[in-house]
Amino acid sequence: MLNKSILTSIIGNQKLTELISENDIKKRISEIAIDISKSYEGRIPIVIGVLNGAFLFMADIVRELDVEYEVDFIKISSYGNSKNSSGTVRLLKDISADITGRDILLIEDIVDTGLSLKFLKKRFEDAAPNSLAFVTLLYKPFTSKIDFEIDYIGFEIGDKFVVGYGLDYEQKLRGLPSIYTLTED
Ligand code: IMP
Ligand code: MG
Repeated sequence: MLNKSILTSIIGNQKLTELISENDIKKRISEIAIDISKSYEGRIPIVIGVLNGAFLFMADIVRELDVEYEVDFIKISSYGNSKNSSGTVRLLKDISADITGRDILLIEDIVDTGLSLKFLKKRFEDAAPNSLAFVTLLYKPFTSKIDFEIDYIGFEIGDKFVVGYGLDYEQKLRGLPSIYTLTED
């Protein structure tokens, strides 16, 4: 855990409160990995991580899979450096794999408005994969405006800004082991 003065220099007088423990994250990842392994038996999916937030979650998920897989990454930006979605999605780094005819498993850290996921869905569908499935560690049902199903959801959470386990506040706090809410005092 970061020492107090470093933490204060990052969050000022905002408050960090643990929402999902490291242990609960671990347990849920094992459950999801079992489901994914069953669904993809005999196939070799391309697991695509959405940078930067999903990097730890993706690393932990793939290490628990019982099927062979390939990896790739895509980087988009919707939040800029604030605690709210900017409302527009920009593609910062595209995948390099040829996904046509392949089974694609997209790994997100969190679905908030759903704008990013919609953008990604279109990007991938345009390339005509054999199948496309979505995994997200966190899902905010009250703010999300998507009209399609997310195949694997770690946890549903309220309309709160969260950090840790890959999720950032102004690019920091990604290394916190649990997931915390960050609230004004
Ligand atoms: P959406 O497009 O509004 O669904 O937001 C998606 C992206 O915004 C996520 O992939 C995250 O990178 C970021 N984001 C959304 N909510 C949070 C949060 O509570 N904490 C940190 N990042 C978030
Ligand atoms: Mg993200």
